[in-house]
Amino acid sequence: MIPHPLRGALVGAGDVTENHLRAWQHIPAVSISAIADPNLVRARARAEQFGIANTFADLAALLDANLALDFVDIASPPQLHCEQTALAAARGLHVLCQKPFATNLAEARAMIETCRRARVTLCINENWRWRAWYRAIKRMVTEGKIGKPIYLRFFCHGAFWVPEVKAARRDWLEALGRGLFYDLGIHYVDVARFLLGAPETIYARLARVHPDLVGEDRALVTLTFGDSTALIDLSSSSYAPYGHPNRQTTVVEDFRIEGDAGTLALIPDPVRGDLLRVTTTTDETETRAYEGEPYAAYLQSFIAAQSHFVECLRAGRAPETAGADNFNTFAAMLAAYRSMELNAVVRIQDFIAENLRARRPE
Ligand SMILES: NC(=O)c1ccc[n+]([C@@H]2O[C@H](COP(=O)([O-])OP(=O)(O)OC[C@H]3O[C@@H](n4cnc5c(N)ncnc54)[C@H](O)[C@@H]3O)[C@@H](O)[C@H]2O)c1
Repeated sequence: MIPHPLRGALVGAGDVTENHLRAWQHIPAVSISAIADPNLVRARARAEQFGIANTFADLAALLDANLALDFVDIASPPQLHCEQTALAAARGLHVLCQKPFATNLAEARAMIETCRRARVTLCINENWRWRAWYRAIKRMVTEGKIGKPIYLRFFCHGAFWVPEVKAARRDWLEALGRGLFYDLGIHYVDVARFLLGAPETIYARLARVHPDLVGEDRALVTLTFGDSTALIDLSSSSYAPYGHPNRQTTVVEDFRIEGDAGTLALIPDPVRGDLLRVTTTTDETETRAYEGEPYAAYLQSFIAAQSHFVECLRAGRAPETAGADNFNTFAAMLAAYRSMELNAVVRIQDFIAENLRARRPE
């Protein structure tokens, strides 16, 4: 239990951290007192933007500065998450860590164990399930509004990695040899788990169209949950339907979940604003999926995810996206690559067992 105002430090000063720092500004009794990033120009620019006093070239130096911290907010590339979590946990600091968890299951498992032994919280900053419409959809599904869920589909095709658009490429993702499913698909795997529970199997078709990318820019993935199925259909190399590179769009996914008594659908509508449509056996209603601008709605998901982390620290309870839970999202995402290699359906629990066994020292 932590009754006093919380003090945190940010690790990494990249693109996503603007959202983190804006979100922290909305959360009472939390302050961020330092940023560590070897790119000190970036670190200082972020620090100046948000009135943060201290910048460091690395996390070890930041931790040596004795800033009386409670937690670190890790937003560096996944290649660094395991090592940085261990450094923080060794100082007794709680860890909020960006997705994707790490680079493999052994690292993710080590992070969970390290934090458990140090008696600190490890929470993965998985903000997608905190988007307002997914919370509303979860509530309605739990209330039985659509009956028993049978089918779920995410469709998000955009032009953000077509050959004309190179700026959005991520160096850390290319270094891993991965693409769209590792970075973006993992969010949808997590929302599918949030709505339907534990997936049993995965089948993935991953493809690359962009001539200069290393990883995939298309992913067509099926997850099964008992007799329910989720389809994740993503592309970053599409010129249609919302994808013209010069057109500003909301980039909200087209989503539907169908049950045996109704359907809930998220419908991108650049004219009226994105809609949530509920169709039951007796009724059809449409409401705005969120109020305000798309960026405000996106930021709201960071505010909700980070507030939840703080509430859990104060209450001494495990977050919804604790390491032990998000391990399963991460494993299902990685299993997609195995499925693609084999061109076969992969049982996720078998994939986890094989992976951890393969990496265990003799
Ligand atoms: N939840 C979301 O919606 C969302 C959105 C974007 C990114 N992300 C995640 O956030 C993480 C960072 O992504 P990004 O887009 O900000 O990447 P980025 O490439 O813009 O920034 C990464 C930053 O990490 C810094 N860095 C490198 N080595 C470091 C070290 N040893 N210590 C501290 N910092 C170091 C780099 O200098 C860079 O400033 C990734 O895991 C990514 O998946 C999540």
